[in-house]
Amino acid sequence: MKRVILLLSWVWMLVGISASRPLIINFGDSNSDTGGVLAGAGLPIGLPHGITFFHRGTGRFGDGRLIIDFFCEHLNLSYLSPYLESLAPNFTSGVNFAVAGAMTLPQFVPFQLDVQVRQFVHFKNRSLELLSLGSGNFINENGFRSALYMIDIGQNDLLVALYAANLTYPPVAAKIPSFIAEIKLAVQNLYLYGGRKFWIHSTGPLGCAPKELALHAHNDTDLDKIGCFRVHNDLAKLFNKGLRRMCKELKHELKGAVIVYVDVYSVKYNLFAKPSKYGFVEPFKACCGYGGPPNNYNVKATCGQPGYNICDNVTSAIVWDGVHYTEAANKAVAATILSTPSLKLERFWLD
Ligand SMILES: *[C@@H]1O[C@H](CO)[C@@H](O)[C@H](O)[C@H]1NC(C)=O
Ligand SMILES: *[C@@H]1O[C@H](CO)[C@@H](O)[C@H](O)[C@H]1NC(C)=O
Ligand SMILES: *[C@@H]1O[C@H](CO)[C@@H](O)[C@H](O)[C@H]1NC(C)=O
Ligand SMILES: *[C@@H]1O[C@H](CO)[C@@H](O)[C@H](O)[C@H]1NC(C)=O
Ligand SMILES: *[C@@H]1O[C@H](CO)[C@@H](O)[C@H](O)[C@H]1NC(C)=O
Ligand SMILES: *[C@@H]1O[C@H](CO)[C@@H](O)[C@H](O)[C@H]1NC(C)=O
Repeated sequence: MKRVILLLSWVWMLVGISASRPLIINFGDSNSDTGGVLAGAGLPIGLPHGITFFHRGTGRFGDGRLIIDFFCEHLNLSYLSPYLESLAPNFTSGVNFAVAGAMTLPQFVPFQLDVQVRQFVHFKNRSLELLSLGSGNFINENGFRSALYMIDIGQNDLLVALYAANLTYPPVAAKIPSFIAEIKLAVQNLYLYGGRKFWIHSTGPLGCAPKELALHAHNDTDLDKIGCFRVHNDLAKLFNKGLRRMCKELKHELKGAVIVYVDVYSVKYNLFAKPSKYGFVEPFKACCGYGGPPNNYNVKATCGQPGYNICDNVTSAIVWDGVHYTEAANKAVAATILSTPSLKLERFWLD
C-alpha cells in the first residue's frame, strides 16, 4: 500500500478537491451488494442472513454489515440504497449499483459491470432532469463530480473461469486481461460522465473460502502454507497485479482524476493467516452451513437451506456461509483499511 500513499499525496495537492459532502456511488458484486439482487432479481435472501445486525433479510449476503456499510458509518452516511430499490429508496448518501453474482463479462447481461454503468448514466441523467424540474432531493452535478466511485468486482469472473478450467491456471490467466479491460472501460466511462474520484478494490483470497476447500478434492501440495488453495490465490494475485497496473495507467490517462487502488487482498489474507490476532478461530470453517469440520460446507444444505447450522459465536468466524464474510470480518477489514493514513476516506472531501 506504500505506493498508493505516494501517488495520493501529490494528486491531492494537484487537484485541490473542493469542500463538499461525502457521497458514494458503488459498483460490484455480493461483496458490496446492499440489496440489489433482492430488488432486481427477487432473490429472497432472508434470515439467517442479517441475523447479527439487521435482524431481517436485507439482500446482503452475510450475517450483518458489509465493508461498504462500515465505510458509510465512518462518513456518517446512511447505508446506500440499491439503485434497483423501487420502494422508498433514499439516495442522499449516494447509490449502490452492485448486484450479487455480477461479473465483468459477458457484457449486456443484467447486472454485469457494463450494465451497472449504463444504469448509472440513466440515474445521473434522470436525477439532473428531476432536479431541474424542481422536484425531490436528488444528487446534483456537483455531487456527481465530488462523489467517490467505488468498484469491487472480478471475483465471480475468476471463479466461473476456474470451474470451467477444472481449477487449472493457464486458461484462467489468459482471460484476466479481458476482465481488467472491462473494469478499465467502466472507469473511463464514469470519467466521461463526470466522475473524478475512484476507489478500486482488489479481489480477495478466493482460495481461502471454505466452499472452495470443501468442494474440490485436494492434497497438501494444492494448498499454500496457511491452507488456502494455491491456484485460486495465484490467479487472484495475477488479477490484482493487472488491476493495479490499470489504475496506474488511468492516472496518466484521465486528467484530474484521483484513482486509489485498495489492497483488500492482503487485508483479507491476513485474517486467515493470523486469525487469533483479530479474535477469530477456525478460519476455514463456515459459520453457517452443514457438515461440521473442517469446512462446515455442503452444497445440499448451504446457509439458509434445510439442515444448515450456525456456529455458537458468529463474531469469532471469518466466513459466514462458505463464501461471504461475517460482519466481524468485514468490520476488521474496514477498520484496517480506514486506519491506513492514505486510505482515510474523509480525505476525499477535504476543504
Ligand atoms: C461523524 O460524526 C462524528 C460525531 O458527530 C464526528 O466526530 C466525526 O468527525 C464525523 N465524521 C465525519 C467523517 O464527518
Ligand atoms: C434520507 O437519508 C437522509 C440521510 O440519512 C436523511 O436525513 C433523510 O431524512 C432521509 N430521507 C427520507 C425521506 O427518509
Ligand atoms: C439525458 O436526458 C435528456 C433529456 O433530459 C435526453 O435528451 C438525453 O438523451 C439523455 N441522455 C442519456 C445519455 O440518457
Ligand atoms: C474438466 O473435467 C471434466 C470431467 O473430469 C472433463 O469432462 C472436462 O473436459 C474437463 N475440462 C477441461 C477444460 O479440462
Ligand atoms: C496432489 O494433487 C494434484 C492434483 O490436484 C496432483 O497433480 C499431485 O500429483 C498430487 N500430489 C500428491 C503428492 O499426491
Ligand atoms: C465470541 O468471540 C469473540 C471474538 O473472538 C470473543 O471476544 C467473545 O468473547 C466470544 N463470545 C463468547 C460468548 O464466547
